[in-house]
Amino acid sequence: MGAVRAEFSSRLGFLLAASGSAVGLGNIWGFPTQTASNGGAAFLLIYLVMAFSLAYPALMAELIIGRHARANAVTALRSLSDNPLTRFFGGLTGYAGILTAILILSFYSIVAGWMVAHFLSAIFQALGMMSLVDWLTGFSVHRNAIFTLVFMLFTTLIVSGGVRKGIERWSTLLMPLLLVILLLLIAYVFTQEGAMQGLKVYLLPDFSRVIDIQLVIRALGQAFFSLSLGVGTMLIYGSYVSKQENLASLGRSVTLIDIGIAVMAGLLVLPAMYVAQHNGVQIFDAAGKLISEDTLIFTVLPALFEQMGAIGLLISFAFFILMTIAAVTSSISLLEVPVAYVMENHRTTRKHTAFMVGGLVTLISLLITFNFKTLFGLTIQITTRYSEPLIGLLFCVFAGWVWQRNQVLQEIKSGFDNAENSLFWKVWPFYIRYVCPLAILAVFGHSLLS
Ligand code: TRP
Repeated sequence: MGAVRAEFSSRLGFLLAASGSAVGLGNIWGFPTQTASNGGAAFLLIYLVMAFSLAYPALMAELIIGRHARANAVTALRSLSDNPLTRFFGGLTGYAGILTAILILSFYSIVAGWMVAHFLSAIFQALGMMSLVDWLTGFSVHRNAIFTLVFMLFTTLIVSGGVRKGIERWSTLLMPLLLVILLLLIAYVFTQEGAMQGLKVYLLPDFSRVIDIQLVIRALGQAFFSLSLGVGTMLIYGSYVSKQENLASLGRSVTLIDIGIAVMAGLLVLPAMYVAQHNGVQIFDAAGKLISEDTLIFTVLPALFEQMGAIGLLISFAFFILMTIAAVTSSISLLEVPVAYVMENHRTTRKHTAFMVGGLVTLISLLITFNFKTLFGLTIQITTRYSEPLIGLLFCVFAGWVWQRNQVLQEIKSGFDNAENSLFWKVWPFYIRYVCPLAILAVFGHSLLS
């Protein structure tokens, strides 16, 4: 076709887009909730170990393959070898990633819809329109369907704008905003009575829990989901990075930003829980277990906001806007996975493709919405528990075993002259060959058994 392939305009553009993908509901909802229900600081500690030692190397595998191939996951994985069998499996892995991205987006957009409904409810509450508020915050098929639709439309519009004018522009606008809101919320919650107790639980580890294998498994799953691994999202974003950039340092920055925001979200949510408790909201049951683990954010926090009066409305609004922003920049990266594949292999226009694929995802979301009890949890389990780790493992195998070591080095050296003598090159190849696959396999095997 001869058309120049899209690229992020700068290092910062990529950083904001990729950390926009990584920073999402997984950081601001998933991570604090998991931390609160898995022993606080103990979970934080293991999470940090998993993220740096396993998720970061796996992220690098995706980025490097993507930039080398300058193509979607299917084409990219096929291009790594001449052997027909490995090429076939490469294509298959790419397709599995695309399917997983579609399924993740179809539940993600439902949850994101709830966030939109909640920030709107703060506005209507300020206007005194209470029956509307009840509908927005109550769980109903209609509300879920409508807000999923709204959210998917927005996501599709951004992706249809392209890499620079859609993905990069919106990430550049939204990510700094997210950081500011998060910091303001943390500062406010810290002034409240009870916050320090939450901070203690979050930061002082209870070492009896560190050896718990379940904890390790959850932390690894959380780290993979949080860094958007195992579906080809980071592969496709990597394919839009210029050859002049140092990938190892870009990957490191994305990892640090992602972990940093998760840790900060913990500084908000855990203290907020204990502030709520201090104010008489029940957060633990008689057995000392966190009540409503999954719905923490929709029960405990709104109860807290409620008691704060007028300022509570403002805080609630800011909090759910924060969640919505986090969800938008992540879901565009999920939609880009199938869109890039269809565009590149069927030579369709971006606009057309975005609306076709976005429409398909919306249909699946609606199917889940209307069969919520059976399909919602199931989709989350299948994609995040099984597909993601397994495909992530295959990406590592392709980067470590299928692809020639020399070519890998060549790709890393582009934009990183001294790569050969770097610590990265001393450690990463070994990691990606042995440590990552074996560790993921161990986790995968364990989650199959339990
Ligand atoms: N990482 C995002 C979050 O933490 C979600 C996400 C975006 C994602 N793209 C992904 C998860 C690809 C898995 C795969 O919320």
